[in-house]
Amino acid sequence: MSANRPAAVVVLAAGEGTRMKSTTPKVLHAICGRSLVGHVVAASRELSPENLVVVVGHAREQVTAHLAEIDADVRTAVQHEQNGTGHAVRMGLEQLADSADSADSADSGVALDGTVVVVCGDTPLLTGETLGRLAETHAAEGNAVTVLTAEVPDATGYGRIVRDGASGAVTAIVEHKDATDAQRGIREINSGVFAFDAQLLIDALGKVRTDNSQGEEYLTDVLGILREAGHRVGACVAGDHREIVGINNRVQLAEARRLLNDRLLTRAMLDGVTVVDPATTWVDATVTFEPDAVVHPGTQLLGATHLAAHAEVGPNSRLTDTTVGEGAAVSFTVAEGAEIGAGASVGPYAYLRPGTRLGAKAKAGTYVEMKNARIGEGTKVPHLSYVGDATIGEYTNIGAASVFVNYDGVNKHHTTIGSHCRTGADNMLVAPVTIGDGAYTAAGSVITKDVPPGSLAVARGQQRNIEGWVARKRPGSAAARAAESARQEDAGEG
Ligand code: UD1
Ligand code: CA
Repeated sequence: MSANRPAAVVVLAAGEGTRMKSTTPKVLHAICGRSLVGHVVAASRELSPENLVVVVGHAREQVTAHLAEIDADVRTAVQHEQNGTGHAVRMGLEQLADSADSADSADSGVALDGTVVVVCGDTPLLTGETLGRLAETHAAEGNAVTVLTAEVPDATGYGRIVRDGASGAVTAIVEHKDATDAQRGIREINSGVFAFDAQLLIDALGKVRTDNSQGEEYLTDVLGILREAGHRVGACVAGDHREIVGINNRVQLAEARRLLNDRLLTRAMLDGVTVVDPATTWVDATVTFEPDAVVHPGTQLLGATHLAAHAEVGPNSRLTDTTVGEGAAVSFTVAEGAEIGAGASVGPYAYLRPGTRLGAKAKAGTYVEMKNARIGEGTKVPHLSYVGDATIGEYTNIGAASVFVNYDGVNKHHTTIGSHCRTGADNMLVAPVTIGDGAYTAAGSVITKDVPPGSLAVARGQQRNIEGWVARKRPGSAAARAAESARQEDAGEG
């Protein structure tokens, strides 16, 4: 592909997207973990272009800030008024020429050589593979311009591809609003994606007029201009017309999300991942798997989540930026920024917050919340506990219903527990506090002082039994009668 490396990819993203009915710019709406324009940028990157410029206009501060976050090497060009796709490309190319000028002032008016690929910012399903095929076709046929087309079931609203009856060559693209009835019958449409010879594009853009129904500079007019000048105009038909669908409203946003999700799951399954119920499994484009990972129904895998071999996740779990080690099992769990070690067990009903690191074969059991906690190999927190800001060694057991009391209302404090410890049920471990290796704590203790290795800490009120209290204070009650018969039975046995 490097032979076809384009000089530039220009992404058009200046439009407003009013039909989204949103305060968020259209191209910043997200599916499968990336913004719409983020998907387009990622697909464009697969061509390794020398320059990648996004034309921004509507809400440009927000869009520009987002682009800087996702790809530091993206440039932006501002199109102040949306005067059409041709005008937008012109703005993009002028930006590239300007920055080339400032980088190399001796050679002003620097022109772009090679291929320029143009894509729209609202087509998140477009793949790098299809862009690659377009660039290859363009180079192999020696075209001045190659348009990516598709046969669609309903061409309403799209620009139609007009071909010569005899040769089949593309002669023009006619916008829906400007088309005759006969042209509206054509189902081959313009995807809005093109490969151009850079110099010919720059020249032709200077000749584009605005005498059309929208009074705009149409990029599509460049085809007719180049053809009339005797240049080769080619077309590359997309294998799957759904790839080129542009998003205009939230119904299309949901459809695109479903399609992309299916594509990601299909790839994972073909790579050896078991997905029990693709219909209720949702993954981001950035999630990675090893073969023999298993995903159960109702599971969302988001961000930089990674599932190692034989890891089992779900049902009903949401993992964000979380790595799950080989053979670990995670069910009914919400985890964010967590590392789950090989063979570890999480849930049912666990909540792992950022900074949780569960060692190999460790356990975060039922109704257990963890945050910023490093849990050593084989250590178990089986039931009803909160572990926050803690380091726990290996093969320690934390009793049920324990709380790591980490917050004094102003500051967070750390708790350190050694290896092979047994803390009792219902402990409050008041940080900062340290429990040494091999130590025990009694059930119901409030641990406020360090516990030396190997000792037993008891920190709770002494029990006192007041004999005969019920008979005196609750005479004639069911409790008093039950106590009296128990007393007689004891006396009888004795
Ligand atoms: C455009 C094409 C049409 C094609 C369709 C595919 C033209 C004249 N028409 O039509 O042939 O079938 O896309 O979806 O090119 N944009 C700007 N600045 C502008 C105008 C548009 O950046 O001044 C951007 C939009 O944000 C969008 C893209 O260009 O990402 C396409 O613009 P849009 O208005 O949706 O074009 P269509 O009328 O759909
Ligand atoms: Ca459109």
